Amino acid sequence: MYYDSVYKNDPDFCGKKPNNLLIKVAKKINKGGNFLDLGCGQGRNSFYMAKQKFYVTAVDYSRVAISQIEEKITKKNLKNIEAICKDIAKFKIEPNKFSVIGIFGTLHFLKKTESLKIIASAQKNIPSGGFIIITSFTANNPPSKRRKSHFKIGELKKLFEAPKFKIHHYLENTFLDSGHVGQLEPHKHGLVGIIAQKV
Ligand SMILES: C[S@@+](CC[C@H](N)C(=O)[O-])C[C@H]1O[C@@H](n2cnc3c(N)ncnc32)[C@H](O)[C@@H]1O
Repeated sequence: MYYDSVYKNDPDFCGKKPNNLLIKVAKKINKGGNFLDLGCGQGRNSFYMAKQKFYVTAVDYSRVAISQIEEKITKKNLKNIEAICKDIAKFKIEPNKFSVIGIFGTLHFLKKTESLKIIASAQKNIPSGGFIIITSFTANNPPSKRRKSHFKIGELKKLFEAPKFKIHHYLENTFLDSGHVGQLEPHKHGLVGIIAQKV
């Protein structure tokens, strides 16, 4: 699997810094709770939230990522992170458990129908006041075989329309990627980021 080999060769493939939108939300809540990290990768966001005193459930289908997280959990003797190796399309979100659900850079790897089901499940099962944070690729991404799974312009915003959700942040932009395994030359990505709170 692509990410297994990538993670074997680089212990911090997505960097060490947590996602900026997640930092914003953690600062806003400032009282812990349960955090669900869907497609957690090597756990930069999960470890950050564990440090902020959240109980963390980190899910990814990369065995390498999950065993790297488990090694860190043991090494640091952390009691508030659980790492689960599973396809997030098959993960059942427990109702009213998670005050924050994050899906960072992952939904564009799934079929659009699966992504929409995961979002609907997060929306249904998160309690009132809970935050859903998503970053994903948009139709402004370079053409690729995964194009169909990218969000259309404005699509994610529509999914979180009032009155059920309040959008605290929404941004669609493009950024220059200097290159990575699989696409070494510099290229642009279309990105969407959202923070939405259930009313
Ligand atoms: C770009 S990485 C982002 C990792 C992490 N969210 C972060 O921001 O550091 C995408 C991750 O999604 C995971 N992934 C993709 N499709 C998945 C699926 N169907 N179920 C579980 N994990 C998946 C990959 O294994 C990879 O770790």
